[in-house]
Amino acid sequence: MKRIFNKKVIICLIIFILLIVLTLITFFNPFLFIKISGNKNIIVSVNEELKLPSVKAYIFNKDITKNIEESGKVDTTKIGEYKIKYTIKYLLTTKTVTMKVNVVDKELPEIKLIGNSEVIMCPNVEYIEEGYTALDNYDGDITDSVIINKSSDYIEYTAEDSSKNKTSIKRTLIRKDEEIPSITLYGNINNKVVLNSSFSDKGYSATDNCDGDISSNIEVINNVNINQLGTYEIIYKVKDSSGNETSVTRIVEVVEQSKSGFYTNIVEGPTYINGILIVNKNYSIPSNFGGTNSEATNALYELQNAASLAGFSMPLLSGYRSYYTQQYLYNSYVNTYGRESADTFSARPGHSEHQTGLAFDVGSIDDYYGDTPAGIWLKENAHYYGFIIRYPKGKEHITGYKYEPWHIRYLGVDVATDIYNKGVTLEEYLGL
Ligand code: DAL
Ligand code: ZN
Repeated sequence: MKRIFNKKVIICLIIFILLIVLTLITFFNPFLFIKISGNKNIIVSVNEELKLPSVKAYIFNKDITKNIEESGKVDTTKIGEYKIKYTIKYLLTTKTVTMKVNVVDKELPEIKLIGNSEVIMCPNVEYIEEGYTALDNYDGDITDSVIINKSSDYIEYTAEDSSKNKTSIKRTLIRKDEEIPSITLYGNINNKVVLNSSFSDKGYSATDNCDGDISSNIEVINNVNINQLGTYEIIYKVKDSSGNETSVTRIVEVVEQSKSGFYTNIVEGPTYINGILIVNKNYSIPSNFGGTNSEATNALYELQNAASLAGFSMPLLSGYRSYYTQQYLYNSYVNTYGRESADTFSARPGHSEHQTGLAFDVGSIDDYYGDTPAGIWLKENAHYYGFIIRYPKGKEHITGYKYEPWHIRYLGVDVATDIYNKGVTLEEYLGL
C-alpha cells in the first residue's frame, strides 16, 4: 500500500514537473534567442554610412531570422540617440533586443580668411578686418558666431559648432615699416645766389607712410656761406619712428654777379616758346615729364639711314633718359669731377633735353668728333632731318655747356633749317 502510494506520488510529481517545464518553455522559452554579432551600442558620424551588426534569431538552433520584427529608424543626417528594437516571438514567448545608435558630429568647423593670413602693416595701426567665413559640416554657416580675439601681433578667430567642436585660426600681423619717408622741397633744387647777398629757403615738408606728417622732424644741415664763392649743399634729413631715414639736397651756388646767369630764376616748365619746348639750365621740366618721342625717333632713323648711305655709321649712344637716370648720371659726374666741372657737360636732373625724348647722342662721345668726316657730315646734314647740333662750339656762354658735337635736338625740318641757316643757338633763336 505504501509502495503504490509512493508510485502515484512519484508519477504525479513527474507530471507536475513536466507541466512546469512545458509552461516555462511556452512562456519563457530559453531555446528562443536573438544573437547580435557585434556591439549593441554604435556610434556613427553624421552623414556617414551606418553599418549595423548582423542580427539573427534561433529557436532550438533553427534559424528564424526572417521572423524578426524590427522597429525604430536611424536618420544619419541628424545628430541624436536612436534605438532599434528587434523582436522575435515563438508560441507565447517574446524576446526583444535593443540596439543603440548615436549619430554624432566630430568634424571641426572650417574658418576661411578673406585677405592674407600674414599682413605686413605699420606699427601702432589698428588692423581693419578684411573678413572671414566659418562653415560647419552640420550647422552650415556659423560665421556670425565667430569669436574674435585681438592682439597687436595677431587676430584669433574661433568658431564652435553645436556639438562643441572648436576651430581657431590666427591672422598674423607683422609689424614693420621699411618704407623711407619722403621729403618735398619747396622752391628750386638748384639755386644760384650772388656773393654777399642772401639765400632764403622756400621751405620743406616730410611725410611717412606710417607716421604721416613728420615735417617737424626734418634736420637741416645748411653750410651755405654766402660770403664765399662755391657750391654748397643744404641737406634735409628725416627719420621715421621705425628708423627709416632719407635725405634730399638743395644746391646753392654762390657766384659772382657776372656768372649768375645759369640755374638762377629757374622757370619751372614745361615751357613752350612759339610751340618749341625749351629745356636748359634756366628752364626745367618736372620729374614726371617726358618719355620717348616717336616723331623724333623716326627722324633719327631717317638721319641714320642717310648717314649710312653717305658711308657713315651713326649709332645711337643715348636717347631718352628719365629724370632719375639723369639724376644718377649727374651725381656720378659730381662725385668724380666735382660739381663745377660736371655742370659744364652734364645737365642737372629736370634740366636735360634727354628727358624730353627729343635729344639724342649719336656717333661718338668725343670732343673731336666734330672734326671727323662723320661729325662734319652730321653738322652739315642734321637739319635736313629736323635736328640741330644743340651745343655748338663757341656758344658755351649761351648754352651753358661745352661743345657737344654728338648731341642733336629734334625741332622739325623747318625750325632746324632756319636755325642752321642763321648759325644761332636755340636760346638765341627764341630770343632768350
Ligand atoms: N650732356 C647734356 C648737356 C645733358 O646732360 O643733357
Ligand atoms: Zn646729349
